[in-house]
Amino acid sequence: MAVERRYGEGHRILVTGGAGFVPSHLVDVLVERGCTVVAVDNFVTGSEENIAHLREQPLFTLVKADVSDGLPEHVPALVERFDAILHMASPASPTDFSALPVEILRVGSVATLHLLERAAEDGARFLLASTSEAYGDPHVHPQPESYWGNVNPVGVRSVYDEAKRFAEAATMAYHRSRGVDVAIVRIFNTYGPRMRPDDGRAIPTFISQALRGAPLTVHGSGDQTRSICYVDDLVRGILLLLDSAETGPINCGTEHEMSMRDLATRIIELSDSRSELVFLPRTADDPEMRRPDLTRARTLLGYRPEVGPEEGLRRTIEHFRQRLH
Ligand SMILES: NC(=O)c1ccc[n+]([C@@H]2O[C@H](COP(=O)([O-])OP(=O)(O)OC[C@H]3O[C@@H](n4cnc5c(N)ncnc54)[C@H](O)[C@@H]3O)[C@@H](O)[C@H]2O)c1
Repeated sequence: MAVERRYGEGHRILVTGGAGFVPSHLVDVLVERGCTVVAVDNFVTGSEENIAHLREQPLFTLVKADVSDGLPEHVPALVERFDAILHMASPASPTDFSALPVEILRVGSVATLHLLERAAEDGARFLLASTSEAYGDPHVHPQPESYWGNVNPVGVRSVYDEAKRFAEAATMAYHRSRGVDVAIVRIFNTYGPRMRPDDGRAIPTFISQALRGAPLTVHGSGDQTRSICYVDDLVRGILLLLDSAETGPINCGTEHEMSMRDLATRIIELSDSRSELVFLPRTADDPEMRRPDLTRARTLLGYRPEVGPEEGLRRTIEHFRQRLH
């Protein structure tokens, strides 16, 4: 199944959270395609550095605002109609769950409603960045989109998991009741350049520790698994979904599953580090295993991840190494 490119030159795209890790890579590809891109970001977890290279780019505009307050009025870049709205804004790392719980709930709920309303007004395609966390600590492995998940609604991770589940429900409600053209992507663990070294997610944490020669802090026994996806593959998948007529939800990631212990060991080897592993108590509600069933993405979008973990980790380590000096 080949998806034809639908968004390119002459199209106006709104990307919320555009200064973040994944969204800034998306912005780059959209601008390369010739789209006019407006990014709205309040920098709660994003960084100016991620979009600094776009400062002189006439197709790109940055608006500093909190999308949970609604899109600001009277900002020229936000007045004209958008062809597509990509709602990517949300703090997403485990440390954010305890530091920014209300902000996460608001950007998943109130902001999603504001943006769906704007998509309805503009007749824009609305793409929601959802998450594998919608499956919680899964009882089904690998996870197909038809699995409804196992989320603790009052646990420490619930602010994120439930906000995204609400966002999915809101997206489908606007699709069913208002005819909005929508798409939901459930993103599995993604890594790559522009992640914050201190954001609390395993890969940047391990790489920073390995490069400093500090012990790598593995939670629990390290037997819990994740399937890690290099950011370029994820961006390719998201744009295939955007260009398609699919509603989703559609999983996006890779099927390459590895334990946290193996991941840490691989990072030590690839960084030529002498660090060792230390084991810390397991965090609450941390999923035991995580692997997407990619049948839908493959058959409906023709999606194929192309960057293996060795190559992806090398590129990411190189990026972190350069920033250390
Ligand atoms: N990286 C992953 O592995 C992963 C996995 C699943 C889902 N996702 C989703 O993908 C999206 C991007 O994640 P990321 O890893 O790049 O995180 P990130 O924190 O780097 O990017 C999120 C961006 O959103 C901005 N933001 C947050 N709240 C905002 C608000 N109220 N108003 C305006 N801007 C706001 C932040 O400042 C940041 O620039 C998120 O929606 C996240 O839930 C990511």
